[in-house]
Amino acid sequence: AEPLRIALAGLGTVGAGVIRLLDENAALVGARAGRPLQIVAVSARDRAKDRGVDLSRYDWCDDMTAMAARDDVDIVVELVGGSDGPALTLARNTIAQGKGLVTANKAMIAHHGLALAEAAESAGVALKFEAAVAGGIPVVKGLREGAAANAIESVQGILNGTCNFILSTMEDSGADFADVLAQAQAHGYAEADPTFDIEGIDAAHKLAILSAIAFGARLDFAQVHAEGIARVRAADIARAKDLGFVIRLVGSADVEPAPGGGQRLLQRVRPCLVPDGHPLAHVDGPTNAVVAQGNFSGRLLFQGAGAGDGPTASAVVADLIDIARGEAGPAFSVPVGDLAPLEPADAGER
Ligand code: HSE
Repeated sequence: AEPLRIALAGLGTVGAGVIRLLDENAALVGARAGRPLQIVAVSARDRAKDRGVDLSRYDWCDDMTAMAARDDVDIVVELVGGSDGPALTLARNTIAQGKGLVTANKAMIAHHGLALAEAAESAGVALKFEAAVAGGIPVVKGLREGAAANAIESVQGILNGTCNFILSTMEDSGADFADVLAQAQAHGYAEADPTFDIEGIDAAHKLAILSAIAFGARLDFAQVHAEGIARVRAADIARAKDLGFVIRLVGSADVEPAPGGGQRLLQRVRPCLVPDGHPLAHVDGPTNAVVAQGNFSGRLLFQGAGAGDGPTASAVVADLIDIARGEAGPAFSVPVGDLAPLEPADAGER
């Protein structure tokens, strides 16, 4: 069968992970995709950097935004990051070229996902972002397809590995916030700008995307209220523990009655007291977890690595396999019924 020819933009932790995965699992990935997945071109800011993978097999592109126009490229994988800038230009160019896009870029999807999905739908191409939410956990597919027959009543998740690592390490060691943040950065979970992690913005990006998937809600990042963990102290954690709780940064989306009638969706990210018996209470380290309540499925729990090269690459390549098989599906869930927007006073500042 003809290979699916891939342009890979962004060669950070995840990009190198995708190359390693496609090398190591080439036979099984090719068998499941029904055709070989073949990277033909790569691009990143720094050509000279050693990433521990052999890049000499691929064409190097200095201008990543032009990769989509290459005749030898069928599909683009965007792992550059950033809500705007080159990532967004590349995404738009890819769809305009009538080619599919796979991205791990939660900020870009949270801000521009709706417009990109509309463009992809009119162009008849795939837009896939499993890796943007909760790394290796197949929660986008799980909720959009696995739980498709349900009205989802609520979603709660630990969606930022850095914050979860910080809070659970503070709990175990009694260490201060600043010391533990430095450890998280050293492990490579934190964003380039860790304020996005610490202030709950990264989790809010993921929650906005997850809500659009779980509830068919209109993707709108401005509707997510976000509060971070910078003010949580070791003493707060110890006191919570005495009372039978742990503190976790939880993103939650709940359907509730709207003041003017009908229903609305409340989307919030904030440090929460989680009771010891709750499934999110024992999620430690950089792990992510999502609990969803479906009206027929009952409670569903998704848990796994929310960051890192292997897990995130696993989600990227799963999307590529879907596309290779012609089974990409729509980007978001079909909306059913209306969810009223929040009043500005109830929504986030962004
Ligand atoms: N900075 C993110 C986290 C990486 O800590 O979860 C994965 O999106």
